[in-house]
Amino acid sequence: MLALLFLVLLTTSLNLHIEAQDSGSRTKVYANRGDNITLPCHLEGQSSLFGNRIKWTKIEDDSSETDVLISMGFHKKTYGNFQSRVYLLEADDNDATLVLTDIDLKDYGTYKCEVINGLNDKIIEVDLELQGVVFPYSPLRGRYNLNFHDAEAACLEQDAVVASFEQLFEAWRGGLDWCNAGWLNDGTVQYPITNPREPCGGARTSAGLRNYGQQDKSNSRYDVFCFTSSLKGHFYYLIQPKKLSYNEAVQACKNDGAEIAKVGHIYAAWKLLGYDRCDAGWLADGSVRYPIARPRMNCSPTEAAVRFVGFPDKKHKLYGVYCYKSQE
Ligand SMILES: *[C@@H]1O[C@H](CO)[C@@H](O)[C@H](O)[C@H]1NC(C)=O
Repeated sequence: MLALLFLVLLTTSLNLHIEAQDSGSRTKVYANRGDNITLPCHLEGQSSLFGNRIKWTKIEDDSSETDVLISMGFHKKTYGNFQSRVYLLEADDNDATLVLTDIDLKDYGTYKCEVINGLNDKIIEVDLELQGVVFPYSPLRGRYNLNFHDAEAACLEQDAVVASFEQLFEAWRGGLDWCNAGWLNDGTVQYPITNPREPCGGARTSAGLRNYGQQDKSNSRYDVFCFTSSLKGHFYYLIQPKKLSYNEAVQACKNDGAEIAKVGHIYAAWKLLGYDRCDAGWLADGSVRYPIARPRMNCSPTEAAVRFVGFPDKKHKLYGVYCYKSQE
């Protein structure tokens, strides 16, 4: 009983937390993968920033900071995978706004702009949010098989990253209901319930994210919630005269100048482009799925979803294939 109460309290306090942030002073910037965006950092009523040290860092999931750009007058240095992707806008004398080009999934997060002149240092934080889709994932070898590091690799293989709490929370608000617990990028394990029921934390609990808290990243095993953003390439069902085995499916996409699609590709196409196709097709991880955006008889009648058929025997010639052609 106490546990139930705790869950309810937790859900309530999380709600407050999110709303406070929404209406709070932090700036949020929304982007799609591939976009160029600006992270605003403008200091009103200051004398010229020239000669001040301007430092942009990214705050990582474990609260450590990664350098992005440091500027001191004419001297500028950029770091790591931000090198050659970032520069200062310098729209006027008080502007320390950062331009970040070719946004990728791992750019998601909080950025800190520090203007240091020794007297009154200023700090401004900006959240970079990505438009995208959260999907639960478990691999061929079955449910609850991933430690945190496996989970990171599994999402990466599906053209995705491990979702954040905020991303899962948004997905839950959008109706995601999933009864298997999965890793999030902060090292917690949670699952979203919109329709409380007995096997999923209890029928009489409130809807919300069920939270198992921080788990041992090496020894605990769960599924994972992955996050992916808009596609840079083209996702499609390959029209074929007959059904294919897994190996034939891989080859068929190659012959078409493409690759067999990943789970992240099918979710992005379904959620962000409304892709709808009532044909079960192979994907790169050996699973068979089909995306339904317009529910109808015999094709996911009750909900828009990416339907999961399973991980069939790869030799069975029973399915079509979804391909992905990157734009490079
Ligand atoms: C983003 O900026 C880069 C470099 O400034 C430019 O080459 C590219 O075309 C821009 N992309 C978009 C989508 O505007």
